[in-house]
Amino acid sequence: TMLKMLSAAVLGALASSQALAADAPIVIKFSHVVAAETPKGQGAQMFKEKVEAKFPGRVTVEVYPNSSLYGDGKEMEALLTGNVQMLAPSLAKFDKFTPKVQLFDLPFLFNDINAVQKFQVSAKGKELLNSMTDKGITGLAYWNNDLKQLSANKALRVPEDARGQKFRVQNSEVLDAQFKQILAVPRKMAFAEMYQGLQTGVVNGAENPYSNIYSQKIHEVQKYITESNHGLLSYMVIVNTKFWEGLPEDIRKGLQESLDEVTVEVNKVSHELNLKDKEKIVAAGTTEIITLTDEERAKWRDAMRPVWKKFENQIGADLISAAEEANK
Ligand code: LMR
Repeated sequence: TMLKMLSAAVLGALASSQALAADAPIVIKFSHVVAAETPKGQGAQMFKEKVEAKFPGRVTVEVYPNSSLYGDGKEMEALLTGNVQMLAPSLAKFDKFTPKVQLFDLPFLFNDINAVQKFQVSAKGKELLNSMTDKGITGLAYWNNDLKQLSANKALRVPEDARGQKFRVQNSEVLDAQFKQILAVPRKMAFAEMYQGLQTGVVNGAENPYSNIYSQKIHEVQKYITESNHGLLSYMVIVNTKFWEGLPEDIRKGLQESLDEVTVEVNKVSHELNLKDKEKIVAAGTTEIITLTDEERAKWRDAMRPVWKKFENQIGADLISAAEEANK
């Protein structure tokens, strides 16, 4: 009888916790590594606001900026184990899951951010969102930051100036190869460790768009920025495939709708935001911005270009030419 009473109590507790679970909102933890005021930070916040207005009490979005929940290296694992539901890692960080997305990091692939967007909305661009579903990762959108600039404590005007300099890179084989190609020394390092790496001299330089330079205070530890626009920093908004497909239909549709609206907004303002951050860096007066002549920029392009051949088989020549088409 004691046993019966106990098991009744256990059953009752179970039933009420199930009832609670049924009423509890779906929680989407959205973790990222950059500052809240950057294009990605603003996008995540906009997504939260739209979704919570659309599904009051049914869906909650918790945004964790600045590597405050998970940093590089841990966030993808957290998505796969269900500890977070949404991420927007840089396209440079997917090479363990698919070789194809490496396309976006080929140096001097896109002439400007408009070409990037043109490719991303094309059939081939969209296809890449589904290139990791066999690994449990579904891509929902591309959010752009901007083109990257080189920074260092030495004035970099021609590729030879970068020889022997140690550059922080994202965890990417293409970016590693890019710096080796100009006889510099790449060091893979988590985003959250970059400032200290530069401050202590573990690395001498980096490559970032202005929004990340400014919000991470990279300009305080770099004397020069070379406006090279040599590569892209863009993100894929991803979810755990099982989680996504397990959502009630109306919620999944609503989330995709909100995300599509945010994507338009982010991609509309990201370049502008970067230009504003460039102005703030100029105003801070800590860093000289070097503008390249067409001739100088061509030297960087010629020096880095052999990287394409190295990755052509992994990425696919068809994808590379589709991306090049977007420049026309
Ligand atoms: C980096 O590691 O430099 C970037 O991927 C950070 C980011 O998310 O913008």
